[in-house]
Amino acid sequence: MNLARLQCIHCGTDFEPSALLYRCRECGDLLDVVYDFPDTDAEQLKHTWRQRRASLAPADVSGVWRYRELIPFYDDVSNIVTYPEGNTPLLEAPESARYVGLNRLQVKHQGYNPTGSFKDNGMTTGVTQAVAVGARAVACASTGNTSASMGAYAARAGLLGVVLIPEGQVAFGKLSQALDYGALTLQIQGDFDTALRLVTEVAPEIGMYILNSINPFRLEGQKTIAVEMLDQRDWQVPDRVVVPGGNLGNSSSLGKGFEELYELGFIDRMPHLTIIQAEGAAPLYKTVTSDHPDKLVTVHAKTLATAIKIGQPVSWKKAMRAMDWTDGWVTQVSEQEIADAKAVIGRDGIGCEPASATTVAGLRKLLVEGTDEPLDPDEDVVVLLTGHVLKDPDYTVRYHLGELYADYVVETTITEKSDHLRSTYANRPIEVPADRDTIVEVIQQHLSHGS
Ligand code: F0G
Repeated sequence: MNLARLQCIHCGTDFEPSALLYRCRECGDLLDVVYDFPDTDAEQLKHTWRQRRASLAPADVSGVWRYRELIPFYDDVSNIVTYPEGNTPLLEAPESARYVGLNRLQVKHQGYNPTGSFKDNGMTTGVTQAVAVGARAVACASTGNTSASMGAYAARAGLLGVVLIPEGQVAFGKLSQALDYGALTLQIQGDFDTALRLVTEVAPEIGMYILNSINPFRLEGQKTIAVEMLDQRDWQVPDRVVVPGGNLGNSSSLGKGFEELYELGFIDRMPHLTIIQAEGAAPLYKTVTSDHPDKLVTVHAKTLATAIKIGQPVSWKKAMRAMDWTDGWVTQVSEQEIADAKAVIGRDGIGCEPASATTVAGLRKLLVEGTDEPLDPDEDVVVLLTGHVLKDPDYTVRYHLGELYADYVVETTITEKSDHLRSTYANRPIEVPADRDTIVEVIQQHLSHGS
């Protein structure tokens, strides 16, 4: 029995879940997948979900479909498109905790997904729905990770994947994935916001199913990140969950996840959702702090954290709603703050791509500078790292070599550069001759410095 329907977030009009629809036919606003959940015994379900970890069935092995009672839009679990995804680690990050001024900090690393980012949590539900509605092709605009994820899942499902990416603005780790997975990759001379506009114009004409976060079925999968996080914490609700903000699908889906868990009695309080944007790509921050927070302030986005280089986030109203539900907040951080925070996360032996590091940078800003929203060092905080460190190795190497510029032009080599960022936590490689004694000496020097 299908318990789901699509519902407009503004006027509440309902639509069939099978409708190939991304916006309300009445008012044009965004859609949610909503459910008539049957009476739920939360404790029993928590137990069932734990038990499924011992199962070998694909739907139980998936860190998304394991929680299928919370995403009951698709009945036939033997036909889901799963890699599997999820099952990402929750790690202690003591160096990062010290850096931000907290006594303890936990990191949920979504970069340990099959294609290296949190997009896989949503792609499994999005592509499963694409197959269910009979799509021949799936499409997305992307700053890189969505295209990598969609490319892989489309290939697994035997569908054509079509990606539109802003030329020259996608990190090579991600571009290489889309190409290798066989996605038809169209590099457009424009930014992400233009690519997204184009994909929404073109897709209906060709009957392609859009898998950007405007697709509410994709957000259903991403919602389960909240569930898995709580399951891993034995259902202890953190005081705060911190996420990067780009197109704002992730913050929207986490908000919906926590809200549903609260309504269904799985948790008795909500964590504060804190969204962090890069200063040069902070339309949500600018909107919330403007005189008219009901009207999106769009920007021409600029940041080295290319994953979140987005000026017109499509899910901004859902992100506002998530902040309302969770008494959340949004702030912005500079390129320097992102670069240093990323290196500190690396020192924990964790690492991440630049966009993910906004979280730790934002926390430090809130704690150390005490701006916007003062935090208590005893707060129980989880940050969500969204992408793997290997997605954008170029950025990391430049940082450690002291060659990271907020502004640069590349032809075959860098031709123009300005706005040099400090490499505060650089770990420079050391050139040594191929000589045994020198190598021993250098290592011993290092050991005595470290002790
Ligand atoms: N972090 C990473 C690594 C991302 O790739 C993205 C978005 C975000 C954070 C922001 O998440 O958009 O849900 O607010 N990447 C998209 C893409 C836009 O095309 O891969 P959001």
